[in-house]
Amino acid sequence: MTRSLVTEIDHVAIAVRDLDAAIAWYAEVLGAEVVHRELVEPDGVEEALVGVAESYVQLLSPTREDSPVARFLAARGEGLHHVGYRVADCAQALDAVKRAGGVVVDEAPRPGSRGTMVAFVHPKSSFGTLIELVQEGRPNGAAGEANDGAASEKARTGPH
Ligand code: CO
Repeated sequence: MTRSLVTEIDHVAIAVRDLDAAIAWYAEVLGAEVVHRELVEPDGVEEALVGVAESYVQLLSPTREDSPVARFLAARGEGLHHVGYRVADCAQALDAVKRAGGVVVDEAPRPGSRGTMVAFVHPKSSFGTLIELVQEGRPNGAAGEANDGAASEKARTGPH
């Protein structure tokens, strides 16, 4: 029996034009609270993580017009952008995708928000779904280790 490489739905990411309006809607209508908010400059997005049990809804809005999320909004409008699967080992899961002939966006894991390591898998090899592999915490020496020890502290502190 094979052991699953994915341990949980980390987040479901939704591209929105107005982050504050989306946050307010989740809070006022569903009573769901933002547990982490972060500007992810390399990706050109600002994200807000709304806590749902052990997972998040990740509301994403672009911070510049040439960011992938801005292009997504222009082409397809607001809506489901990607699904983040939590994995124990991002590099291992990424390798499994590559070995199966999958198309990856990131050749190697890179720092994500809230002290995670992440890698994206292209939708063309995963049934039309952009997938983000999310590993809590960062190995020693990885860039942006500001959070390292604290990474699991609050595994719930926030993703991209
Ligand atoms: Co994400």
